[in-house]
Amino acid sequence: MKAAVYYENGGPDVFKYQEVPDPECHRKGIVIRVEAVSIEGGDTLNRYRGALATRPHIVGYQAAGEVVAVGEEVETIKLGDKVVTTGACGSHAALRAVAARSAWVIPAGLDVMRAAAVPISFGTAHDCLFEFGRLRKGEIVLIQAGASGVGVAAIQLAARAGASMILATASSEERLEKLKALGLTHGINYHRDDVVKAVARLTDNHMADVVVDPVGGPTLQTSILSLANRGRVTMVGQAGREATKVDVSSMMGGNRTLSGVFLGAEMGTDRVHDGIQRLIDDVAKGELKVVIDRTYALSDAAEAHHYIESRMAVGRVLLIP
Ligand SMILES: NC(=O)c1ccc[n+]([C@@H]2O[C@H](COP(=O)([O-])OP(=O)(O)OC[C@H]3O[C@@H](n4cnc5c(N)ncnc54)[C@H](OP(=O)(O)O)[C@@H]3O)[C@@H](O)[C@H]2O)c1
Repeated sequence: MKAAVYYENGGPDVFKYQEVPDPECHRKGIVIRVEAVSIEGGDTLNRYRGALATRPHIVGYQAAGEVVAVGEEVETIKLGDKVVTTGACGSHAALRAVAARSAWVIPAGLDVMRAAAVPISFGTAHDCLFEFGRLRKGEIVLIQAGASGVGVAAIQLAARAGASMILATASSEERLEKLKALGLTHGINYHRDDVVKAVARLTDNHMADVVVDPVGGPTLQTSILSLANRGRVTMVGQAGREATKVDVSSMMGGNRTLSGVFLGAEMGTDRVHDGIQRLIDDVAKGELKVVIDRTYALSDAAEAHHYIESRMAVGRVLLIP
């Protein structure tokens, strides 16, 4: 099969589009013919500095397509089903093998391209806001990197849950403007405004009850300092690629909480698996929106990763084999 592979970590230009052996189907697994790859934030990070499980390595967490092989112990998925899959690697390819447990059948009304972008971003945003952020109706939410895949999902989920104010940060006005249709109340351009002061001004000094932080590094400090009393920060990523060293001395006085969130740690549980199915169904019903910025051919994976790293994309960029 054809795949976008690399032999060493680095910038987007490490990708080579080449022939590699087809993946094998495990007895508890499936193989799909990939129709759409959702480039996750973790894919660009892994390409840059993640471990190479094989050499050449095929990066990528999430892809959707048609089932072309089914392991003998699999009962929930059949040949020809359209599914969206997640896994530690292997999405940037024409064929992909995963455990059947890491696949969700795409319901009627949802196309493969949008389905490809749902499980990780929406599942992660949901865990950040509700499982670990304990968001309640009427609370104020701050989403760091609001234009990211996780951010776009978090804004919509917070709006649906009745947050009284949804604030988000991004690196430009243009990016923030596109988030208004999803439920954003006020955008904060962190190149122009001091985030903590902006949160204070916009909330009349209440600050944020829940902060979702997929950026880390120095941004996590602004998340902590943006918390209301009893506020909760969910630290969920390192998109900023900088070391995360923060001063937590403000946490105790205000009964504040800092939680780490890693969806992968609980991906195999019924809680997460069934929760992702509900989110996929909600997208199919039109209750939640998948934002696809643009698509590239799989052979142009380097260009697609370059585009994402240019910080122009809002929501997801897809690869089509
Ligand atoms: N723990 C988990 O379970 C989990 C699950 C999913 C994702 N994640 C992590 O969450 C983070 C976001 O994922 P995602 O899929 O939402 O990412 P994404 O769609 O690629 O967006 C990342 C965003 O981060 C912002 N950013 C800030 N500093 C950046 C930098 N130095 N380089 C590139 N982008 C930077 C950019 O927005 P601005 O330009 O507007 O700042 C960008 O849009 C990633 O670190 C990912 O690994 C973790």
